[in-house]
Amino acid sequence: MPRRVEPTSRAGRLLGPALAALLVLGAASTAVAEPAAPEKPVPLSIVPAPVKAAPKPGVTYSLTGGTRIHTQPGSREAKQVGEYLAGVLRPSTGFRLPVVPGASGRGISLLLTGADHRVGKEGYQLDVTRRGVVIRARTAAGLFAGVQTLRQLLPAKVESKTRQRGPWNATGVSVLDYPRYEHRGAMLDVARHFFSVDEVKRYIDQIAQYKVNRLHLHLTDDQGWRLEIKSWPNLTKHGGSTEVGGGPGGFYTQDQYRDLVAYAASRHIEVIPEIDLPGHTNAALSSYAELNCDGVAPPLYTGIEVGFSSLCIDKDITYKFVDDVLREVAALTPGKHLHIGGDEALVTTDPDFIKFMDKVLPLVRKHGKVASGWHEFVKATPDASAVPQFWGTKTVAADMVAAAARGNRIVLSPATKAYLDMKYDENTKLGLKWAGYTDVEDAYDWNPGAYVQDLPESAVRGVEAPLWSETLTNSAEVEYMAFPRLPAIAELGWSPWSTHDWAKFKERLAAQGPRWKAQGVNFYPSPQVPWK
Ligand code: ACM
Repeated sequence: MPRRVEPTSRAGRLLGPALAALLVLGAASTAVAEPAAPEKPVPLSIVPAPVKAAPKPGVTYSLTGGTRIHTQPGSREAKQVGEYLAGVLRPSTGFRLPVVPGASGRGISLLLTGADHRVGKEGYQLDVTRRGVVIRARTAAGLFAGVQTLRQLLPAKVESKTRQRGPWNATGVSVLDYPRYEHRGAMLDVARHFFSVDEVKRYIDQIAQYKVNRLHLHLTDDQGWRLEIKSWPNLTKHGGSTEVGGGPGGFYTQDQYRDLVAYAASRHIEVIPEIDLPGHTNAALSSYAELNCDGVAPPLYTGIEVGFSSLCIDKDITYKFVDDVLREVAALTPGKHLHIGGDEALVTTDPDFIKFMDKVLPLVRKHGKVASGWHEFVKATPDASAVPQFWGTKTVAADMVAAAARGNRIVLSPATKAYLDMKYDENTKLGLKWAGYTDVEDAYDWNPGAYVQDLPESAVRGVEAPLWSETLTNSAEVEYMAFPRLPAIAELGWSPWSTHDWAKFKERLAAQGPRWKAQGVNFYPSPQVPWK
């Protein structure tokens, strides 16, 4: 029985063609609509749920053609957040929204003074009164988070890239908000299928709305090597020349990668590059015969099997190769973390795996970075700064508990909950199902702080939602798998557990639907969510 719902069709039928035509005309009109009659404010439907939000009944702030965005005097970073906000609001409102230094009770103010100490490094306070909107934080990252909340207090059509009719009323509210976890990640696999710089930027903008602050890029795998390495140019020339299914693949030049990292940083997102080692390396092995134990380069691979490749553990050239790659990646990456993979090294024995990691972990440190790795890499007992990423399908994981006892703090990406490439149900055409079907409630309904048996909350650094791309070839397909589950995982990373409530979450999620429509996000209209 088909379970898919068509949220748009009902409204279309009810309106009828004549009224629909009128609305289209209205939307195309160039008149700047001042709020003639007060419109009902947007009900509070903030995702991720804030720590505290006190509505002010009857209060709204109306954005008008005269609204200015005031930013903390002397702060270039606050000004950048102001420009970002103006960039979101200008196309749909048609307002000029000048960004000017200063503090004013009127208009919108983004200030780095006076915030409650509880907001910490990434939180904010937001006040919407009749006179204006004031966001206060201790950092630009906090202002940026507050701006994401403000967007959700405005009508959904504010997200449109074309001029819409107002009024532009923001719901009156007083918010105090800060994150539960420091690591709130999304991972995109650009190796199985390549995604262009513009496609990755599009995803960055989408995840930033939900206060995600890490983008883990899975840059290398059996099917493709996607980052230019100047000292080993054949990695991309040959190893980047195809992808799953035999398409043309692609890669980022170092300049393009720098541009992506800077774009993410402007959204307060740290890029964590992954070079997957010692398995998942067929593209590298195919590019350089000398990296193979038998000196013979295998052909490029365009299938979706895993666990068949390994760098040659006993060759010196392997460590020269890894050192060169990590040096270049570290130099291109301002963030603290380098992810060295370590998963599914099924043709590498445990002693060889440990021998390999014992040589590679010091290279990460030598290049000034902290190592992240898939959970298998704890076999090599990396030091306490290293970040294991748990992707298991069980809630019992003695290796994670032992790593935590040694001081490692763990990122949770349980495949049965957080893997955005799992099919929603038996009707989902895209995606895989080896970890089971994962509809929105499954993705939402778990507590990262109490998920792995005997792993204390204090050992959890955060959560991350990986999106593997064996079956995904473009942004529309990425969006179909990520939305609405990415916001569910993002909420687990940000919101206090005391706010956790599926019945309320699905209502708040439903309110995102019109925003995604206005943005052109190709989300999956899960029948579990009461879309409006
Ligand atoms: C993984 O899914 N192999 C990390």
